[in-house]
Amino acid sequence: MEKQTVFITGSASGFGMLAAVELAKRGCQVIASMRNLEKAEKLKSLCSMHQMEDRVNIVQLDVTRPNGFPDLLNDLPPVDILINNAGFAMGGFCEEVSLEEYKEQFETNFFGLIAVTQAFLPAMRARKKGTIINISSISGKVGFPGLSPYVASKHALEGWTECLRMEVKPFGIDVFLIEPGSFKTSIWSTGKTIARNSLVESSPYSFFKKAILHELEKGEAKYEDPQIVASLIADLCMSKEAGRLRYPVGKGVKTTLFLKNMIPWKKWEQIFLKKLLGK
Ligand SMILES: NC(=O)c1ccc[n+]([C@@H]2O[C@H](COP(=O)([O-])OP(=O)(O)OC[C@H]3O[C@@H](n4cnc5c(N)ncnc54)[C@H](OP(=O)(O)O)[C@@H]3O)[C@@H](O)[C@H]2O)c1
Repeated sequence: MEKQTVFITGSASGFGMLAAVELAKRGCQVIASMRNLEKAEKLKSLCSMHQMEDRVNIVQLDVTRPNGFPDLLNDLPPVDILINNAGFAMGGFCEEVSLEEYKEQFETNFFGLIAVTQAFLPAMRARKKGTIINISSISGKVGFPGLSPYVASKHALEGWTECLRMEVKPFGIDVFLIEPGSFKTSIWSTGKTIARNSLVESSPYSFFKKAILHELEKGEAKYEDPQIVASLIADLCMSKEAGRLRYPVGKGVKTTLFLKNMIPWKKWEQIFLKKLLGK
């Protein structure tokens, strides 16, 4: 197989960093981008541990700053595979999340991803080949109380990706969605923010917040190894076949998606709220 050149966004940690290493191990040339190069040490040490420094090129890219894209792209070799991975999770209750906060979430998880994809598409189209892998989430298919900014951004990504996949297929470009459940990465710590008004004690939704935090704490021990997602990303990159659009991954994800589609919404929310609030 011809050596693939892969560009990844948000490679300073989590899935992006592990996918960069996994892809280099499998013989790809990786361009690992991150918004803050001071965070590159962990990736650099993993590369040197596996003696792959020459296969991973680290570059600076903040997906919310498209003005810098043309200069960056001029310096790159042709890219075969784009992995849109950068993202963060914003929580908060619908009534309390300001429009600015919603926009902030969308700037990275949705508009940033569109801008990066648009920057790479002309060259892929001209070469009549390419692969784009968008890292979505189970939150792209299922709504959760207290997580509307993140859920909405990932639902938007899912819809946009369906359109993109059909539009670029005639140009020989494949598009995939990966939909992870809960995995142990920094998204649960440094990658998480909560809308300001949902943080205050006097919020009328405080009872919800307590229940959600309790559920999250209970579930934390079950979060899975992010290497599972990194390996799936690498498998998709190495696959020669144009596969399906969606790749749910993680414990219980496929079952949750199946049940959500099968059970009437009224029943679904009844079960969900009973589990969360006990009533
Ligand atoms: N972990 C999970 O359970 C889970 C589940 C479903 C989906 N996902 C998705 O998986 C993707 C990767 O997340 P992760 O779990 O690996 O968490 P992570 O370790 O926090 O990685 C996210 C990366 O995105 C980067 N990033 C954030 N904003 C950026 C921007 N404007 N420009 C460029 N990079 C930016 C972060 O960089 P900084 O360090 O500079 O902030 C970080 O390196 C995200 O799209 C997330 O929504 C994760």
